[in-house]
Amino acid sequence: MSATPTPADRFTFGLWTIGWNAQDPFGGATRGPINTVEAVHKLSELGAYGMTFHDDDLFPFEATEAERRTAIDDLKKACDDTGMVIPMVTTNTFSHPVFKDGGVTSNDRGVRRFTLRKIMRNLDLAAELGAKTFVMWGGREGAEYDFSKDIRVALERYREAANFLGQYATDQGYDIKFAIEPKPNEPRGDILLPTIGHAMAFIETLDKPEMVGLNPEVGHEQMAGLNFTAGIAQALDAGKLFHIDLNGQRGIKYDQDLVFGHGDLQNAFALVDLLENGGPNGTEAYSGPRHFDYKPSRTEDINGVWESAAANMRMYLLLKERAAAFRADPEVQEAMQAAKQDQLAQTTLADGETASDLKADQSAFENFDSGSYFDGNGFGFVRLQQLAAEHLMGAR
Ligand code: GCO
Ligand code: MN
Ligand code: MN
Repeated sequence: MSATPTPADRFTFGLWTIGWNAQDPFGGATRGPINTVEAVHKLSELGAYGMTFHDDDLFPFEATEAERRTAIDDLKKACDDTGMVIPMVTTNTFSHPVFKDGGVTSNDRGVRRFTLRKIMRNLDLAAELGAKTFVMWGGREGAEYDFSKDIRVALERYREAANFLGQYATDQGYDIKFAIEPKPNEPRGDILLPTIGHAMAFIETLDKPEMVGLNPEVGHEQMAGLNFTAGIAQALDAGKLFHIDLNGQRGIKYDQDLVFGHGDLQNAFALVDLLENGGPNGTEAYSGPRHFDYKPSRTEDINGVWESAAANMRMYLLLKERAAAFRADPEVQEAMQAAKQDQLAQTTLADGETASDLKADQSAFENFDSGSYFDGNGFGFVRLQQLAAEHLMGAR
């Protein structure tokens, strides 16, 4: 295995990541704009498989139809010249002042109708470029104040939009699925559908839940203090991991969008192990693009931008290598056995066992030695975690 990326690794980057000019609420840009065609070529040279974008990353909000077309055609040519693909497209419904109270859930009905049109136009573009996933990140869908809007009604409007757009995609014959990206806050004080769990519950209320899944982002769950890898496991369990945004975050604070692995490295290790080896019989659990949604830090010049892009892919591949070694280590296998992971894989009840059968089984209750769990019957999870940490550190 090599830590040099190739298109077979399916690494993709948002145009807005390497293209971020690094303005923040306290200071202006520290870098100039990036040329889309050059970005596609550079990412391809670095070993990426594809690129993704928001409509407004590719052409300005105010672009004329001719300007828009030129930008699209230039992108297509760059993709043809390099073999890069566009597996995902997303819509900017958060930057322009019109979206200051959100897009599909703005209190202003005119804004909501405008937003639907903007998204429909972008869905047409996604289909034209062959994208299979359409991400919906509702960063402005939310509020700062409890009395700004009735959240239940706002969720109805969210549902109305998702149902309408799903029907539109179906009617147009587009081979595309939607992926909702949860985030707890920033830019709004509180964002609707703040976590993987909230979004999964919402999806089940839609007309065609099978068309809608998730695009979870590492840092977003971690901003809520949640375990990202555990959330991904639940999304996989529900068949909802349609796409993924990989990056790094250091604790509960503003959205850092660091390089993948530059935040909680141990959780990133568990994540790569899950994605790569967590399927049936140790196969890949997720086969979609490994998409990086990070921001090259404001301190970096253009060299730092490309260094950081390469660092994302290298971190992933190094973790993948370490995860393979971890799984193959006989001592790890023995420690997993000692931790009773094989028992967890067994059903709790025997095939066909009824409530009366369980009641009749004295070994399950009357004769069960619950006392042996005091001063005994440890699970050895710490030993297992130490083995994981040693593999992660290259100490084994
Ligand atoms: C964030 C978000 C955004 C979205 C992107 C897709 O960091 O808050 O990740 O970057 O992923 O805008 O629409
Ligand atoms: Mn983010
Ligand atoms: Mn994201």
